[in-house]
Amino acid sequence: MERQVKVGVLGAGYWGPKLIRNFQEIPSADMAMVCDLRQDRLDHIRELYPAVRVTTDYKELLGSDVEAVAIATPIRTHHRLAREALLAGKHVLVEKPLTANSEEAEDLVNLAEQRGLTLMVGHTFEYNPAVEYLRNLITSGELGRIYYINATRVNLGIFQPDINVVWDLAPHDVSILTFVLGMLPVNVSARGAAYVRPKIHDVAYLTLHFPNEVMADIRVSWLDPCKIRRITVVGSKKMVVYDDVEPTEKIKIYDKGVDVPPYSDTLEEFHLSYRYGDITTPAIPNVEPLRVECEHFLHCIRTGERPRSDGRDGLEVVRILEAATRSLLNGGMRERVRL
Ligand SMILES: NC(=O)c1ccc[n+]([C@@H]2O[C@H](COP(=O)([O-])OP(=O)(O)OC[C@H]3O[C@@H](n4cnc5c(N)ncnc54)[C@H](O)[C@@H]3O)[C@@H](O)[C@H]2O)c1
Repeated sequence: MERQVKVGVLGAGYWGPKLIRNFQEIPSADMAMVCDLRQDRLDHIRELYPAVRVTTDYKELLGSDVEAVAIATPIRTHHRLAREALLAGKHVLVEKPLTANSEEAEDLVNLAEQRGLTLMVGHTFEYNPAVEYLRNLITSGELGRIYYINATRVNLGIFQPDINVVWDLAPHDVSILTFVLGMLPVNVSARGAAYVRPKIHDVAYLTLHFPNEVMADIRVSWLDPCKIRRITVVGSKKMVVYDDVEPTEKIKIYDKGVDVPPYSDTLEEFHLSYRYGDITTPAIPNVEPLRVECEHFLHCIRTGERPRSDGRDGLEVVRILEAATRSLLNGGMRERVRL
């Protein structure tokens, strides 16, 4: 059996307990300690896992013999807690987005590199088998040249008190897009509105301009009657719809397209030919992405391998979110992603 890694989790609100459950279920993890400022959350964790130590003081967790720390606290606290964890010699998994700004993210990346510690960001969708399948479809060339992508992530959501919808929901789509395309956008533009609370955008439309004229639109909203988590990829040969709300048929490949004749002298001769082929739904392994993510974190700690979603990946997503924020405040102007 693989060496067990002793894990501590900081934050036991909505997302923390999902990390705790996964580490508890993974045989090569020893889910040892949980910290939250709220005693009621700790009482809940103790009820579920009586053997887990709990504390309201994160310094007690960082001073303990846990080897790795997973951080699921509000975004504004990520940098301070992750920095202290790295300084205490712990490997760190930080929930998405890595930090509230790129200076903080750079600091964590540098610190982890200097200390030879694993720094990973919880871009959960990069561990989702459907997203991996989509990436393989794109990189294998099966879809042809990628024209554009449309991503929608909306529902009547949980309004976050201190961040807008871009920082809450768009990290998922931004990390999915950069992962499946294997490249970073050059420019970002964003428009949005704050309907429910002043100055905190609850609806936003982002456009990411990638090299090779690939364009991607992301719509995120906490104010929509329907839960939609869908990404459409349109290529020159085939088109794909990835619907994360679908219980089983998450990916549908449409053999549809428009072919342009090689040449035509007159407008009358110019006829586009439309292709309406099969729709296929590949079998996608039914595993919990967060479980894969937690196992990958432990694997990287044991082997020293660089995580798929490492600190640099986290930094790149934060830079894209920053460019989107500048554009939101700038009337939707195109903003360069500072790399
Ligand atoms: N990967 C995903 O799909 C996913 C989904 C939801 C949330 N998240 C991320 O998880 C993180 C937490 O989100 P959430 O929805 O669980 O928030 P939440 O507000 O429900 O929970 C945060 C918890 O952290 C605790 N906390 C705050 N400061 C602390 C400190 N200094 N020490 C210890 N505990 C502290 C709070 O008491 C609270 O219980 C965010 O970064 C969020 O973006 C990720």
